[in-house]
Amino acid sequence: MREGNPVTVRREDYAAPAYWIDTVDLSFDLDPVKTRVLNKMRLRRNPDVPAQALRLDGEELNLARVMLNGAGCSFKLDGETLVLENLPEGNEPFELEIFTTCAPEKNTQLMGLYVSEGTFFTQCEAEGFRRITYFLDRPDVMASYAVTLRADKTKFPVLLSNGNLVEEGELSDGRHFAKWVDPHKKPCYLFALVAGSLVSRNQRITTRSGKEHLLQIYVRPGDLEKTEHAMNALIHSVIWDEARFGLPLDLERFMIVATSDFNMGAMENKGLNIFNTKYVLGSPATATDVDFSNIESVVGHEYFHNWTGNRVTCRDWFQLSLKEGLTVFRDQEFSMDMCAEPSARAVKRIEDVRVLRTAQFPEDAGPMAHAIRPDTYVEISNFYSVTIYEKGAEVIRMVQTLVGRDGFAQGLKLYFERHDGQAVTCDDFIQAMADANPTSELARQLPQFKRWYSQAGTPVVHAQAAYDAAQRSYSLTLSQSCAPTPGQIQKEPYLIPVTLGLVDATGAAIPLQLGSDSPALGSNHTLVLNETHQTFTFVNVETEPVPSILRGFSAPVVLDIELSDAQLLTLLAHDSDAFNRWEAGQRLALRLALTAVRAEGAPPAQPLSDAYLDAMRTVLRHPQLDAAFKELVLTLPSETYIAEQLDVVDPQRIHAVRETMREQLAEALHGDWEWAFDAHKNNGAYQPDATSAGRRALAGLSLTMLCLAARENGSPVWPGKALQHFKDAGNMTDRFNALLALVSSGQPLAQDALARFHALFKGDALVIDKWFALQAGAPDRGGNILPAVRQLMKHADFQMKNPNRARSVIFSYCNANPGAFHRNDAAGYVFWSERVIELDAFNPQVAARLARALDRWKKLAEPYRTAARESIARVAAKPNLSNDVREVITRSLA
Ligand code: ARG
Ligand code: ZN
Repeated sequence: MREGNPVTVRREDYAAPAYWIDTVDLSFDLDPVKTRVLNKMRLRRNPDVPAQALRLDGEELNLARVMLNGAGCSFKLDGETLVLENLPEGNEPFELEIFTTCAPEKNTQLMGLYVSEGTFFTQCEAEGFRRITYFLDRPDVMASYAVTLRADKTKFPVLLSNGNLVEEGELSDGRHFAKWVDPHKKPCYLFALVAGSLVSRNQRITTRSGKEHLLQIYVRPGDLEKTEHAMNALIHSVIWDEARFGLPLDLERFMIVATSDFNMGAMENKGLNIFNTKYVLGSPATATDVDFSNIESVVGHEYFHNWTGNRVTCRDWFQLSLKEGLTVFRDQEFSMDMCAEPSARAVKRIEDVRVLRTAQFPEDAGPMAHAIRPDTYVEISNFYSVTIYEKGAEVIRMVQTLVGRDGFAQGLKLYFERHDGQAVTCDDFIQAMADANPTSELARQLPQFKRWYSQAGTPVVHAQAAYDAAQRSYSLTLSQSCAPTPGQIQKEPYLIPVTLGLVDATGAAIPLQLGSDSPALGSNHTLVLNETHQTFTFVNVETEPVPSILRGFSAPVVLDIELSDAQLLTLLAHDSDAFNRWEAGQRLALRLALTAVRAEGAPPAQPLSDAYLDAMRTVLRHPQLDAAFKELVLTLPSETYIAEQLDVVDPQRIHAVRETMREQLAEALHGDWEWAFDAHKNNGAYQPDATSAGRRALAGLSLTMLCLAARENGSPVWPGKALQHFKDAGNMTDRFNALLALVSSGQPLAQDALARFHALFKGDALVIDKWFALQAGAPDRGGNILPAVRQLMKHADFQMKNPNRARSVIFSYCNANPGAFHRNDAAGYVFWSERVIELDAFNPQVAARLARALDRWKKLAEPYRTAARESIARVAAKPNLSNDVREVITRSLA
């Protein structure tokens, strides 16, 4: 959307629509070059709103005809908005017929109706429906849809839309038709159609109530055997939502369709989910464990939207987190409940927190910082963000912590009793949670809790402890603050659930009691911090404890606490809370990394201490801990996370320090890595479950470490073994990990392996994406990555217009490879600005994501800072930028 003057939309300007649309009857004559769309709607005035003209949204449409109640009528176009001024007075319904055409084949934005590999798809959220027909394109207008699709039968044998197929048949000239009726009213962003040559995996299920349903997954012929995992995930999702929240499937037919051209992950269109192939297709030979687990969580996510998003939707797009935060929370819980072992739940939690801290915390501290319910936006697509999604999910998790698991289920029940079929706000949701749990801290302090919805930024909780041996008391003072964010200078204190325990020097849990007349609290307790400063005094504490604070990451905050190395080692060795046990190891590593980064002169050759290395050896060799957890503990904090701790960032220095740390860890634990690799490789027939995935992950890390060590000592043994392992691998996880070990350690054998990998998988787009991403994301050695990236863009398989492929090369370099992207000669930034501009010409959404890569430029050390600013200014100077990119760039320079 290139509207000379970007308009800022404000939450407080919300007004109910002037008209309601009750029914929509759409007919499509599908043709890639020119598709004809006839839209017959019944509308009526909204009696609660002053009489006014009807203004229908449209974008890139060719308008052929408008009819009112079967006759011609007057209308005008105000920019792209269709305006009808002389509509019948009174509250009687009237009928509008709008006939338009559009050009799906030319639709490179992938919003609205587009063609991907010869198949028609739609993407309407947030504002894509206006690219299909003139409409009130806003989520609070809900209508009943009937959709007739007509197309060439040979080229488009499968014709799908939302709801139930009520009629199909032949037409003249080799064309055919299908008519679909959706029994549920819906906002237009949930509309979908698909037409093409596809095949489906079908599964009939009977749910608790005895109702039969048809589940289908549609893919291109040849991909069918890669849909088993997605189908299993879908079946489990249906069962889980009914068992955990009493939410049944409300459709006779539930379809998922995969497309290889998709801007995002997937879309929850009612009864017709459309997915990026990346989150549907998975076979052991082509998908990694991470892919398998992503497929499960995205299938779950979109399915869970059927209630949280579709049955109850958003009043306006400022409420996006109403459905997204809640649905991410639900998919996270689903993935945890799917784990057989309790320890695997903790692993999933750690992984989710890692995403939050490496992606959302920087967003919250940068120019695009926004509350989970923002007050303004220019382009809503820019707000499909880690804040709305992942921080939104953390806010929902805090609600569950405050009201308990059962209280949360009660709250959700009340929410649906009150709002089923409505378009509502975040306030409505939280009110239902509070009303269902009237004695909870949430209900008692609701206005304060709601600050999580209105304030941006990551709060910092500072913890200060004092042990009084004579009194046998331990007092913990917690204070909170939150740095200013754009447009929000002053922050009010949050309501923060702080789950904690106290551990003695031997690792035993200390019983908790707040004041001698108070009840015993067990060994794990959630304090509610609601003031700027608050002191909690624990009594009957026999020896000075080690505090384990923010267990399970009970709130999305930065915990600022001074713990000695000895205390952290105690927690790492003994904490009963797996999250804090992992966190203790991360804090130890982070401290060593920061010391090395801040040191004068060249980075130290051996940043890691013996105590740290011994602790890591103990974890690696631990007889009880499971492999997945070990892999997380033994993975150093990411470069991005290290950068977030610093006021001035030198990405190359951080990279150099972290690489040195990795090498030291590789060498110091050489024998242990050898043991770990041998003990965890070869897991028999491939199963994607968390336990076997954890074993593969640890074997993979071990192999990388052994190849890294080989780089230092020059021994060909482990690189040779890695290549052999690569060749013999029985599944993609092992194969990819072996390749990664060679590439990330810069082994000459990597070239051979990369060539073999490409030859083996040249027909498989998702695997080739991995091949590109691995090379663009490889550790920089003397500035070699940028030239390699430019070379990759010349590869016959590179396609800029395919978002997955563009991301695999360009994003892997600009967003995920800081040591290579931030160059002294600014060439990485020049490359970035060229690509932002290039992408923006045909796909603003993807371009705007890339534009975020330099969000934190103000923190960069020189010469990076000035060079980054210049590159951003170069993009800003370009006329005709999309609103998407313009908003990101403007905020970045502000
Ligand atoms: N609602 C979808 C999901 O979270 C995401 C759609 C985003 N689309 C977009 N154009 N921004 O599952
Ligand atoms: Zn979603």
